[in-house]
Amino acid sequence: MIPCVSACSGFLLACLLAFTFQIFYFSPISPDLLELPPASALPTNKHLQEVTKLGEGFLDRPEDVVVDRDGILYTAVRDGWIKRMHKNGSWENWKKIDSDGLLGIATSKEGGLIVCDAEKGLLKVSEDGVVVLATHTNGGSKIRFADEVIESSDGSLYFSVASTKFGFHDWFLDVLEAKPHGQLLKYDPSLNETSILLEGLCFPNGVALSREEDYLVFCESWKYRCQKYWLRGADKGKTEIFIDNLPGSPDNIYLAPDGSFWIALLQVVPNGLEFVHRSKPSKHLVASFPKLANLVNGARRKATVVNVAADGKITRRFDDPVGKVMSFVTTAFEFEDHLYLGSLNTNFIGKLPLNPTNS
Ligand SMILES: *[C@@H]1O[C@H](CO)[C@@H](O)[C@H](O)[C@H]1NC(C)=O
Ligand SMILES: *[C@@H]1O[C@H](CO)[C@@H](O)[C@H](O)[C@H]1NC(C)=O
Repeated sequence: MIPCVSACSGFLLACLLAFTFQIFYFSPISPDLLELPPASALPTNKHLQEVTKLGEGFLDRPEDVVVDRDGILYTAVRDGWIKRMHKNGSWENWKKIDSDGLLGIATSKEGGLIVCDAEKGLLKVSEDGVVVLATHTNGGSKIRFADEVIESSDGSLYFSVASTKFGFHDWFLDVLEAKPHGQLLKYDPSLNETSILLEGLCFPNGVALSREEDYLVFCESWKYRCQKYWLRGADKGKTEIFIDNLPGSPDNIYLAPDGSFWIALLQVVPNGLEFVHRSKPSKHLVASFPKLANLVNGARRKATVVNVAADGKITRRFDDPVGKVMSFVTTAFEFEDHLYLGSLNTNFIGKLPLNPTNS
């Protein structure tokens, strides 16, 4: 009896040790602890449950949405199609790219779109077809996980690389690792060259230019903040905090016609699971099991977008607090008094009137 018990417990102990060794030794991450912002006092609401659904069933997780000056709406979806909706409401499969990593898109003055492809780099898509603009930085490193882009009036393209370590499909590992692997890049069309403006950023995601184009704002997702990067004036080349302690992880950001910004916020750390981000062993454990990572990632459970004035103050907030209609909202783009909402968990684009009483 006694020898059997000790043999069994010895075996169990050996299994446990092997399991622990396996997790630490083969863990895909080398994590730091993540400091989370204090809980937000802003009340939530259910406005995002009132959206009209555009292109329902036709759009597989439309991450980003833009509307060009002619009122044509564009989005890039998971099967590599760039789809567009004409003013009369009819949808068209416009251009196809062989990629399942199409993320941020931007309209170009010359017509067509600039597209971030998390596999290939930066692309230009027009009626004439697809042209690769940038695959490497001028230092020679390959551009992976290009995330969001904006074109300035001189034709320069500013874009983010969310992580130089993890790819798009492993984005949650970058959150778990919580080390700054991101970059802000600039593509100069006259030189056909891409320079690194900033490195060591915390999952830089959305990029937007201010109305005067004197600075840009980029969002650092797991840092719960957005920073300004000055393009002109005495502070040119410097960064400063635009807004921090956001009530969620900022994803894409867009300039609104009034000079404020719309920011989509992800709930990557659900309430009650903050401890995972404060313990390295639990990070290793979660990172080793994709199913566990899915459970711990709260992005599919709710949606929030905020409007932030140019002075960095939140002025409006829209939520779907339980993800009933919209969840994992990644983009809010304003056009003609409506918000167009992209998501990595819906098969439609949400459309929300901004001033329902007087429209
Ligand atoms: C809507 O507009 C597009 C582009 O002008 C056109 O090709 C299409 O036939 C129109 N669809 C309908 C139903 O009118
Ligand atoms: C610009 O550089 C890219 C590689 O980063 C290359 O594929 C492309 O052909 C170049 N374009 C021109 C016009 O030279």
